[in-house]
Amino acid sequence: MKEKHLRASLLLLFLFLLLSSSPTLASPPPSHRICVIGSGIAGSSLSHFLKTYSPNPSSLQITIFERNLIVGGRTATVTIAGDTFEAGASIIHPKNLHALKFTSLLNLPIKTQSNKSDSSSWFGIWDGSRFVFKTLQPPTPKSGPPFYAKIVSFLNSLLVFGRYGFSLLRMERFVDKTVGSFLRYYENLESRPVFSTVEEMLKWADLYGLTRRTLQEELADAGLSRRLISELVTVITRINYGQNVSISGLAGAVSLAGSDSGLWSVEGGNWQLAAGLIRHSNASLHLHEEISSVSYTEGLYELNSTKGNSYSCDITVVATPLDEIKISFTPPISIPKRRLQHTHATFVRGLLNPAYFGLSSASEIPELVGTIEAPDLPFSSISILKKYSEEDMTYKVFSRIAMADELLDLIFSTRRETIRINWGAYPHYEAPEAFAPFLLDGLHLYYINAFENAASTIETSSVAAENVARLILSRIDPTSRSDIPTLESTGSHEGENLHVDL
Ligand SMILES: *[C@@H]1O[C@H](CO)[C@@H](O)[C@H](O)[C@H]1NC(C)=O
Ligand SMILES: *[C@@H]1O[C@H](CO)[C@@H](O)[C@H](O)[C@H]1NC(C)=O
Ligand SMILES: *[C@@H]1O[C@H](CO)[C@@H](O)[C@H](O)[C@H]1NC(C)=O
Ligand SMILES: *[C@@H]1O[C@H](CO)[C@@H](O)[C@H](O)[C@H]1NC(C)=O
Repeated sequence: MKEKHLRASLLLLFLFLLLSSSPTLASPPPSHRICVIGSGIAGSSLSHFLKTYSPNPSSLQITIFERNLIVGGRTATVTIAGDTFEAGASIIHPKNLHALKFTSLLNLPIKTQSNKSDSSSWFGIWDGSRFVFKTLQPPTPKSGPPFYAKIVSFLNSLLVFGRYGFSLLRMERFVDKTVGSFLRYYENLESRPVFSTVEEMLKWADLYGLTRRTLQEELADAGLSRRLISELVTVITRINYGQNVSISGLAGAVSLAGSDSGLWSVEGGNWQLAAGLIRHSNASLHLHEEISSVSYTEGLYELNSTKGNSYSCDITVVATPLDEIKISFTPPISIPKRRLQHTHATFVRGLLNPAYFGLSSASEIPELVGTIEAPDLPFSSISILKKYSEEDMTYKVFSRIAMADELLDLIFSTRRETIRINWGAYPHYEAPEAFAPFLLDGLHLYYINAFENAASTIETSSVAAENVARLILSRIDPTSRSDIPTLESTGSHEGENLHVDL
């Protein structure tokens, strides 16, 4: 009898062990098909963060759809006379830690602005009829002893200080404080919550207030002079966002940080970040395939492309601005109305016409011509990208509307090559900003570019993508949810009348 009991209990124990261990032994973790629309920095870094943070990276099948023939979104290059130049997002801040990490992970070479010598400090502010301010031309490497360049650079600092005074320090403090707040988004994962709305994300880093008011209001409160705001600050916001100081304080601070020192880019083109991350995360890439509809039925998203293909996905991530593309969503989604600011980047190889600027020689025109906000000023900035000789250079012109040939013929005396690119570049910022949610349907349809109303850069796209990756992982694997602090979604119901159905 005893022996029988023992045998029976051993058998039971064995069965128990077998049963309790079999689920983990036999069945692999459920796999998830994740479809990503857009192969720019947002989509590519999302793919990277999903694979990096997932406890079961092999269970994620990521497919990226790109409507163009190339990856990179708004990072792209143009080639003129054998040289490659950034045509879209071109500079990266030294404190952009994700971009720095990607660059070293992918072994990409870095190009710093300091390699360009001090010439970028030679700038002028053009008001449409005259230069209201101009710094001194630095000497060319051959035209004097090395210390001469240092003296000119010092004199230029004095000139700028003479015109704008202590307001410059207040501007610097404003930018440093904002950059400091932004650095919170790199805090470790244990103490940093996963955010389901942009508002929560901004409030947590103490940045939300800056999206409620214009840059002009913020800077006036910070004690900046009207001259600094209407000249130097306006020049910078017109270069970086094609808009004036009526953009939000946050977009403005990000824009001003874009004139800090130590800026860098990826040698050969920033688009390599996107290409590298897609490759490194083993995502499958469908180039030249535009998604025309996203329909949710019975727990699955069906994505149809203009090629006539149909894809089933458990999770869908929109990683491109929805403002100008036509994707029909079923059921329909509702997000705040937003329009994109178009920036026309015109690349010209040739020589500027000094007469247009009231000067006698092209060599007197500063290497960077910035502009103030004035009616009828046909461009936002003109800068020299490369000097081949005193009569042959490559320039980049930014403008809000396309530069017609007749206009270019007035501004340039010779023009050997012209390339025009029309970017739907960034949101047209309007404080107070209204934000679309990261989670569009309460299920598994996500929108990274909701963050762009805060600011639009390579790094802000990565920071938003990282949060969306964590949001996805916390929602598909509730067990990992316990160790990630999650803020409850409060939702935003203000400004309901601003919503538009797509
Ligand atoms: C630019 O400067 C960095 C160091 O500041 C150097 O490592 C790099 O090779 C330089 N690149 C070029 C193209 O000169
Ligand atoms: C700045 O831009 C806004 C919006 O585009 C416009 O309404 C405003 O008049 C501009 N400000 C100036 C000073 O031109
Ligand atoms: C990508 O695939 C390679 C080879 O199949 C594998 O070694 C690597 O770990 C994968 N990387 C990721 C991030 O899944
Ligand atoms: C998507 O394609 C499938 C298969 O061709 C079709 O049955 C379905 O109606 C399409 N959905 C939409 C929204 O067009």
